[in-house]
Amino acid sequence: MSGDVILDVRELEVSFNVRRAGRKYRVQAVDGASLSLAEGEVLGIVGESGCGKTTVGRSIVGLVQPGSGTVKFKGAEMIGARGTNLREMRLNVRMVFQDPYASLNPRRTIGDSVAEAGDISAFFKSRAERSAAIAATLTAVGLDPSFAARYPYELSGGQRQRVGIARAILPTPSIVIADEPVSALDVSVQAQVLNLMMDLRERLRLSMLFISHDLGVIGQISSRVAVMYMGRIVEQAGTRTVLDHPLHPYTRALVAAIPMPDPSKRILGSIETGEPPSQFARPRGCAYAPRCPMASDRCLIDIPELRPAGTDGRAIACHNV
Ligand SMILES: Nc1ncnc2c1ncn2[C@@H]1O[C@H](COP(=O)(O)OP(=O)(O)O)[C@@H](O)[C@H]1O
Ligand SMILES: [Mg+2]
Repeated sequence: MSGDVILDVRELEVSFNVRRAGRKYRVQAVDGASLSLAEGEVLGIVGESGCGKTTVGRSIVGLVQPGSGTVKFKGAEMIGARGTNLREMRLNVRMVFQDPYASLNPRRTIGDSVAEAGDISAFFKSRAERSAAIAATLTAVGLDPSFAARYPYELSGGQRQRVGIARAILPTPSIVIADEPVSALDVSVQAQVLNLMMDLRERLRLSMLFISHDLGVIGQISSRVAVMYMGRIVEQAGTRTVLDHPLHPYTRALVAAIPMPDPSKRILGSIETGEPPSQFARPRGCAYAPRCPMASDRCLIDIPELRPAGTDGRAIACHNV
């Protein structure tokens, strides 16, 4: 089902200036992350809070300016692109945000929010075509077309996230980057919204980057997984390969921490014991070394590169496996 590479991210670096206790610091949010998405596939990006997942997504859709690296859509560079080319690419790569409360403008009707990307790009040929497209898109996400005239405050969290999804699929893109799209929702509606996304993915033939801190959710919906730790991808492979035979010590800890239905089979990974190192004091070598049961002297000074390992397109960044 998967085809050519549609999105290729290489050596992406993003840093932010922040002030803390009156001093200026530079936070390295993304530190050389590389990943590629094949046409028609769902690639999960998993990692703990703060590891840089959202920043990767925002960099790809142009909401954050990377310090260095490349982001190619169908072979064409997006960073630094301009004009018609860039507009075309932006329409083809869209994002669903984590927080459906913060991501909708409270003063705009749902219809105007859903039509925003189309409006900016002069996509609609007439008012009638615009209204019809809004109605069809609301229907596609399971909302009545009458929602077009309503405002965000009138909607539940689940309904708002359906609007967030509608905003990302009009006009229909090639790629959707879904940033923890259900983690801010009530547990009772999470499955419905997840099912909607998977249904749309199939109907609209979308390729998808699905960001989550939960390897269990990723396991249900993605064909491949990229595991992120402190701004870098440390392991990637097919989902079953990663879940059944994790190799990187960090991936092993994550997999061991997936809640098992049978408590006797539940293993607590080292992820339960160590704290992630501070972004303000990054280790010199492998960022995982301070928590890693396998760390050697080399790990403390030498950052392991992501390299191909074995079958299933597996790549891993570790000196010891
Ligand atoms: N706009 C910003 N300004 C300053 N620091 C930021 C900004 N966005 C993210 N960061 C920092 O970058 C790091 C990665 O954040 P983020 O990409 O949101 O991680 P994740 O989505 O994996 O939780 C964190 O340390 C976060 O505090
Ligand atoms: Mg995030």
